Amino acid sequence: MEKLALFGGTPVRTEPFAPWPTFDDRERQYLAAALESRRWGGYPYPSPMSMEFGRRFAEYHGAKYCLPAANGTVTLEIALHAAGLKAGDEVIVPALTFAATAAAAVRQNGVPVFVDLEPRNYCMDPEAFEAAITPKTKAVIPVHLGASIADMDRIMEIARKHGLVVIEDCAHAHGGQWRGQGVGSIGDMGSFSFQSSKLMTSGEGGCITTSDDILRQKCMSLINCGRKEPGYDGFEEQLFTGNYRLSDLQVAVLMGQMDRLDEVTAKRAEMHAYFKQVLHAEVQGLRVLDTDPRTTRLSAYQTIMKFDSEAFAGIHRDRFLEALEKEGVDLDGPFYIPLYHIPIMNATSDEYPELRARYGDGILSATDISCPVAEKAAYEEAVWMHYPHLSGTKKDVEDIVAAIAKVQRLAGDLR
Ligand SMILES: Cc1ncc(COP(=O)(O)O)c(C=O)c1O
Repeated sequence: MEKLALFGGTPVRTEPFAPWPTFDDRERQYLAAALESRRWGGYPYPSPMSMEFGRRFAEYHGAKYCLPAANGTVTLEIALHAAGLKAGDEVIVPALTFAATAAAAVRQNGVPVFVDLEPRNYCMDPEAFEAAITPKTKAVIPVHLGASIADMDRIMEIARKHGLVVIEDCAHAHGGQWRGQGVGSIGDMGSFSFQSSKLMTSGEGGCITTSDDILRQKCMSLINCGRKEPGYDGFEEQLFTGNYRLSDLQVAVLMGQMDRLDEVTAKRAEMHAYFKQVLHAEVQGLRVLDTDPRTTRLSAYQTIMKFDSEAFAGIHRDRFLEALEKEGVDLDGPFYIPLYHIPIMNATSDEYPELRARYGDGILSATDISCPVAEKAAYEEAVWMHYPHLSGTKKDVEDIVAAIAKVQRLAGDLR
C-alpha cells in the first residue's frame, strides 16, 4: 500500500536538483584575466572591467547606465540617498519582501511605510500605494517578487502624479522585461543583488541601473567614498558616504554570468511554463501565480504557488511541506513574512528617532499595521520554489509534481 515517506514509505525522489550557482570556463577565463591584471579591487573607480560589465548589463535591461556595488542592500541605500531622501521622509514598500527593501529606508534616516500586495501576483498593490501617500512621501520601492513584475504602468502613473522617486527592487528579476522594457529601466533607478542565491551571482554584489545622468553621477560618488572624479563631478553638493565598491574579482565572475544570462533566463521561462502545465493538469489546489500578460520576458527566481488547504484534506501548508520534503522535494512556505513581524526588522526609535512618530518604540512594536494579503501569503498560502528546481531537466519537474500529487493523495494521513 502506498505510504508517505514521512511515515517510512519510499520517497518519490532521492537525487539532488541542479547545482547552483552555475559556472564554467567563462568565469574561469575572466577570473584568470582579472588575477593576472593584478587589479583585484574596485579602486581606482570605476575599473575598465566594471565599466564593460555595466555597459552590457545596462544594455540588456534597456537602461543607459549600470553601476556595480558591494551588494543589493547598499544599492537601495545609495539609490535613496541619490534621490535626496532626507531625515523623516517616507518610503513606501511592499509588506512582503526581504528586509533590505525597508531597512535601506531606515538606514537613510527615512521611514518605511508598508503596504499590501495584489493577491494575483504578490507584488505591491498600486491602489494601496496611492492610499499610503502623505506629504512626507519621497519615494516608492516596488519589488518584482519571485517571477512576478509589479504593475509598473500603474505604479509609474501614481508616482508621477505625486512627484515621487521610483526605485525598482530587482533583486529577484535579472533579465525580466515588462512591455518590452527591462526591469530596472522603468523607474528612476533599479537595484539588483548578486548575492549567492540570486539568478546572477558573484557571491556578494549588486548594481544600480539608471538612465538619468545626474543620478548616475551621484550614485558613482556615493559608491566611491563621496569622491567626485572627472565624469562624475557634475553636481554641486559634496555627499557623505562610505566605500561600497565591488572588487574586480567579483566583476570577473559577473562577466561570465552575463554571458549566459539570456540563455538561462529563456530556459527557466520554458521550465516554468512546463511546470505550470504539468502541475495544473495533475494537482488540484496548488496554483502557480498568474503571469501578467504585460510580461514580455519572464525571469523565474522563485516560482510562487498558492496552497488551498481544502484540496489537501484540510491540512496546513506547513504540514504539506514537511511531508513533501521527505518525498525529496524541498519547497519553502514562510520564505518571507511581513516585515513588521520579522525579527531582523528590529529598527528601534532609540537608534532611528525618525521612526517614533509612526512606530512608537520601533517598527516591531507597532500593532496597528495590517496587510491581510501579505499575512495570508506568509502564514497560510504561499509556496516558494527556488530556481535550481527549474534549472535541470523536465524529469525534475515531473518528479516535483509526482511528489506533490502523492502528498495530495495521502493528505488524509497527515491530519
Ligand atoms: C528583494 C530583495 N531586496 C534586496 C536584497 C538585498 O540584497 P543583498 O543580499 O545583495 O544585500 C535581497 C537579497 O536577498 C532581496 O531578495
